[in-house]
Amino acid sequence: MTHSSVAVVILAAGKGTRMKSDLPKVLHRLAGRPMIRHVLDAAGRLNPCRVGVVVGPGMDDVAEAAAPAKIFVQTSQAGTADAVRAAAEMLRGFDGDVIVLYGDTPLITTETMMRMVGRQWQGDNPAVVVLGFRPDDPGAYGRLIVTPEGTLEKIVEYADADVAERAVGLCNAGLMVFDGRRMLDLLDRIDANNAKGEYYLTDAVGIARAAGYACAVVEAPEAEVMGVNCRAELAVAEKIIQLRLRRAAMDEGATLIDPDTTYFSPDTKLGRDVVVGPGVFFGPGVRVADKVKIKAFCHLEGVTIAEGATVGPFARLRPGAVIGPAAHVGNFVEIKNGVLAEGAKVNHLTYIGDATIGAKANIGAGTITCNYDGFSKSKTEIGAGAFIGSNSSLVAPVKIGDGAIVGAGSVVVKDVEADALTVARGRQQTYIGWAAKFRATKKK
Ligand code: UD1
Ligand code: CA
Repeated sequence: MTHSSVAVVILAAGKGTRMKSDLPKVLHRLAGRPMIRHVLDAAGRLNPCRVGVVVGPGMDDVAEAAAPAKIFVQTSQAGTADAVRAAAEMLRGFDGDVIVLYGDTPLITTETMMRMVGRQWQGDNPAVVVLGFRPDDPGAYGRLIVTPEGTLEKIVEYADADVAERAVGLCNAGLMVFDGRRMLDLLDRIDANNAKGEYYLTDAVGIARAAGYACAVVEAPEAEVMGVNCRAELAVAEKIIQLRLRRAAMDEGATLIDPDTTYFSPDTKLGRDVVVGPGVFFGPGVRVADKVKIKAFCHLEGVTIAEGATVGPFARLRPGAVIGPAAHVGNFVEIKNGVLAEGAKVNHLTYIGDATIGAKANIGAGTITCNYDGFSKSKTEIGAGAFIGSNSSLVAPVKIGDGAIVGAGSVVVKDVEADALTVARGRQQTYIGWAAKFRATKKK
């Protein structure tokens, strides 16, 4: 752990024109969550005492997504140093570490930040610590100029770099940590005398060196620092995030039969000895206990599944679905806001909405809980051990008592007592010989 307190500033004023979108760039989603939330969550795990997000004018939707971070508005987009200065009020008098992050660099990890903070209390006392990386193609990234002894001297933006500087492979990832005691003074000395006429935050390094302060570099793998500037990069970032989430699920003891086709949310929780078939999608808010089987091609969101249950193939579990221990949910079953008690079975072609299903109840194929009349939702209660015959419609609000049986094809509109049989369908009538006689008449 660090010996200093940490403040975080996230720059998110850029509109991201290359996304060709009405949505600000940092609100585009990775693993179902806005990019800026990934950055906030990774930084949040350091327990920072202050968190600020710099947005552009009118970016209220970004402010909302970043809550409860403090929002600062950068009125003119005059460069990254100008952006940080918009948050100066938050940094005044702060004497810990200030981490500056970019909202469009969502793959950064807490571990990397931990390697960067607290340095001035460990002896080498740098005013600025910069995250570097060595990309396959250094392109237009800023270059880190390091002496043969390994001290960081300055950062040169690509537009301002000469041929020798452009040949440097060590690039600026964008993440910088400042000694809060010196930061505002350094920022004040940054000017806009450069190719783009912008206030470059990266100039802080050269200025710190000229003032006699040390600066340091920490390196990270390219996959962690890639920036998202267009949809193709968004897709690459999604791939990387999914790889991490799959890896974490397997490390925790789940089997993914075909990990490349399993999609997670950052908050998905899988227990031990869970087996996940190919093509399963975990939306937000899914918790799965030990020894659950999720067969191929299921879509789950806002669901809790208890130990030993089986789900799928082809099941859709929507928010509020609670699947009890050893319960079974089979193919082409949709459950929304429905609670299945222990050992209940809903095996085929069924819609369960706003319902409770008792222990060991059996719901036949094609059962529908009719929960919506076009205006409001109503509840269906099915007792323990009840048996619902196939192709029944349960018109809510309605209660089926414990151990009751509903005849197949029923449309149930009234409550059914425990242990009763209810049959609600046209009575079957049979006319012996009628069909043969009919054909004989027609042939004449
Ligand atoms: C920046 C770095 C470069 C580094 C690269 C890594 C500077 C001067 N250059 O370049 O060394 O290699 O990132 O990806 O910092 N922003 C604002 N307000 C502004 C300008 C930018 O909030 O006035 C925000 C953007 O929304 C973005 C971030 O700062 O999230 C980076 O800005 P961008 O213009 O993308 O910088 P790069 O040219 O990529
Ligand atoms: Ca960028």
